[in-house]
Amino acid sequence: MKPVTIHDLRKWKLSGEKFAALTAYEYSFAHLFASQGIPVLLVGDSLGMTVQGHDSTLPVTTDEIAYHTSMVRKGAGAALLLADLPFMSYATPVQACENAARLMRAGANMVKLEGGAWLCETVSRLTERAVPVCGHLGLTPQSVNVFGGYKVQGRDAQAAETLLNDALALEKAGAQLMVLECVPQALAKRVTDALTIPVIGIGAGHQTDGQILVMHDALGITAGHIPKFSKNFLAETGDIREAVQLYIRQVAEGSYPAPEHSFQ
Ligand code: KIV
Repeated sequence: MKPVTIHDLRKWKLSGEKFAALTAYEYSFAHLFASQGIPVLLVGDSLGMTVQGHDSTLPVTTDEIAYHTSMVRKGAGAALLLADLPFMSYATPVQACENAARLMRAGANMVKLEGGAWLCETVSRLTERAVPVCGHLGLTPQSVNVFGGYKVQGRDAQAAETLLNDALALEKAGAQLMVLECVPQALAKRVTDALTIPVIGIGAGHQTDGQILVMHDALGITAGHIPKFSKNFLAETGDIREAVQLYIRQVAEGSYPAPEHSFQ
């Protein structure tokens, strides 16, 4: 199968074809997801919570993301593979380049980093040096201590305007993809319409170009708090492959996320 590239995602944005993405942390699930046609996989620093059992993503290191990326790469097949730059691994553009290089060597096709316009210099440096970048705005879990919890972002007019301007600035700096997490769906639509790069939502309503879920949420494995936006696709199907198919189908037809998974 031909590898999925950023050009495919851009083409899908233009044609309105909505795509589904999942996190993956090791070979077997990566293989299963890719074999069912998931076009984008993310080695998320959510592994700090889902795999390592921490109560945030902050303890995750670049070594750990690189280790999981090398396992996922072996199973990812044609999927475009994103890997997260973890907390404080991109505090300066130089650090970002060094750490991104490790993730690219481990098999990532693109790195993702959390934050707004302050990252523009880092994004252009990475892009100039052949590292494609995905931005991440809204509820950025590495900032949980600044936000005072996992809270919906961009709810008031000022915060919404700042988020939109951050998104435009990151695109201008060279970001090729954007993740929007936990923002009101009207704001997600504004950002999606304003950007030429594809926007992947999580807890951002059904009008973004794609959706991403943490695999543990999509398969009902998550212990403790279940996010409002998540859906257990395995509960409806009883089979992991069918669950992945159902997720892909519901994203494509726009029935997931439904209003009850979205913030108004
Ligand atoms: O770390 C992660 O899994 C993520 C997704 C929630 C987008 O960043």
